[in-house]
Amino acid sequence: MKIGILGAAKLGQSLARHLAEAGHDALIANSRGPESLRELVTQLGSRVTAGHVADVLNSPVVILAVPWTKVRDVLTPDIEWRDRVLIDATNIFVSYAPAFEIDELGEDSGSEIVARLAPSARVVKAFNTLPIEVMFAPRPDDGLRRVLFVAGDDADAVCVAQQLITGMDLYPVPVGPLAAGGRLMQLGGSLSGLELFFASRD
Ligand SMILES: NC(=O)c1ccc[n+]([C@@H]2O[C@H](COP(=O)([O-])OP(=O)(O)OC[C@H]3O[C@@H](n4cnc5c(N)ncnc54)[C@H](OP(=O)(O)O)[C@@H]3O)[C@@H](O)[C@H]2O)c1
Repeated sequence: MKIGILGAAKLGQSLARHLAEAGHDALIANSRGPESLRELVTQLGSRVTAGHVADVLNSPVVILAVPWTKVRDVLTPDIEWRDRVLIDATNIFVSYAPAFEIDELGEDSGSEIVARLAPSARVVKAFNTLPIEVMFAPRPDDGLRRVLFVAGDDADAVCVAQQLITGMDLYPVPVGPLAAGGRLMQLGGSLSGLELFFASRD
């Protein structure tokens, strides 16, 4: 599968690496253009290429891995989503360490805001509930797979995210529609930061 990754910092890089290892082609972009990512993509191997933001946003599946404060800058109204899958991996920080601050959204949620900014995309929330160091940390036991939660309104789009997660040797757990599931998964929600493992019977 061809995956566009918008954001090439800790999360974007790590997802690119693991998606490539799972046999996907990843196109990654930051705000500074593909030349700035030349060394990175060389390290990540031939399945990962660097592109411009517009190219990434044209991919069949797009993972949003930019700071929450930049989401409105990148999800511009001119983008023709045409039912493509947009996986929102953001957390609603308005500032990071040492002065962490979470956006005050009232009754709203981050992924619903993303869905409104990309009205003809099929938006799924995934990859945001665990820090990257935890998401891909060694497992305590080979029979265990680390759980990643997924929320979305479109069953096929949720399925796409689940396939990506499974390919990375993680265990996807759907938690319902974007509004309800996304709230549980966002900062302050009961699934945010929750590390669980699935033990397979075989
Ligand atoms: N780090 C984690 O463990 C983790 C885990 C789960 C979820 N998340 C969430 O995932 C998102 C990314 O986190 P992160 O830690 O990888 O780093 P980050 O510092 O939140 O994101 C930086 C990346 O976003 C890019 N970016 C910023 N503005 C952009 C724009 N207008 N167009 C294109 N790219 C732009 C930056 O490019 P430049 O370098 O060119 O500015 C950089 O590659 C955040 O929302 C975070 O909350 C992070």
